[in-house]
Amino acid sequence: MNIVIIGATSAIAHGVAKKYCSQKNSVFYLVGRSQDKLSAIADDLRVRGAQQVYTDACLFTDVKQYQTLFSRILASMKTLDIVLIAHGSLTHQERAEQDALYTFDELHTNFTSVVGLGVVAAEQCKKQRSGTIAIIGSVAGERGRQSNYLYGAAKAGVTAFCSGLRNRLMPFNVHVLTILPGFVDTPMTAEIPKNFLFAKADDVGAAIVNAIEKKKNVLYTPFFWLYIMTIVKIIPEFIYKRLKT
Ligand SMILES: NC(=O)c1ccc[n+]([C@@H]2O[C@H](COP(=O)([O-])OP(=O)(O)OC[C@H]3O[C@@H](n4cnc5c(N)ncnc54)[C@H](OP(=O)(O)O)[C@@H]3O)[C@@H](O)[C@H]2O)c1
Repeated sequence: MNIVIIGATSAIAHGVAKKYCSQKNSVFYLVGRSQDKLSAIADDLRVRGAQQVYTDACLFTDVKQYQTLFSRILASMKTLDIVLIAHGSLTHQERAEQDALYTFDELHTNFTSVVGLGVVAAEQCKKQRSGTIAIIGSVAGERGRQSNYLYGAAKAGVTAFCSGLRNRLMPFNVHVLTILPGFVDTPMTAEIPKNFLFAKADDVGAAIVNAIEKKKNVLYTPFFWLYIMTIVKIIPEFIYKRLKT
């Protein structure tokens, strides 16, 4: 199975990759910003039984590089079975409220770059009439909260993009999975005090692999976030706007 992971240095993405190592013939193409970090992950996956691991350190969020990146991927793997788009940055809300350039950068990291890479991946999967595109959004995109709505807005865009892409690619036998994690204990949340709601990256990774196998459309992970977000979404706006969220 050929697995491309964009943002492969993410702890959640690593959790996904570790799970695929236990399956036969797993070939990985890991894309990230840092060769050192990618090499460490590649070594780990080889020890765990990966058949082949390619690494590609590049500025993958630069729009001019999307096509050439996928040309390099296709030179190493003839078909794409799974493309996981995992990169993201937890936007500093207060800074974003006062710094439009920072906000634009964050929106690019969390939304437009994800869409751009998704568009290129989708064209290839459509051409080959197979494959799964799995994209990590967030429950933060389900309803804006005053404490993180700029990150949430980008993730809401990711969810809408996945929904439309899934609809468009269905006739071409290409599946799209929207992944909506709640709190996960990873470097991204290192500064946030931990509580019982925090999941482990490896558990979230295992849930993602299971959802890909079962061709789920939307994965809330851990599962209880579906119930939490259902309640959050039904709170009437005239009450919600008064809450300290
Ligand atoms: N952790 C959570 O609670 C949580 C909850 C919901 C959704 N998510 C989403 O899950 C995904 C994976 O995050 P994680 O929790 O596994 O965090 P993580 O381990 O900190 O990984 C973040 C990843 O994003 C990359 N990245 C960050 N800023 C970037 C930029 N400006 N340009 C390119 N790459 C950048 C990082 O690359 P480097 O290694 O090079 O820094 C790393 O690969 C993200 O999309 C995140 O939004 C996380």
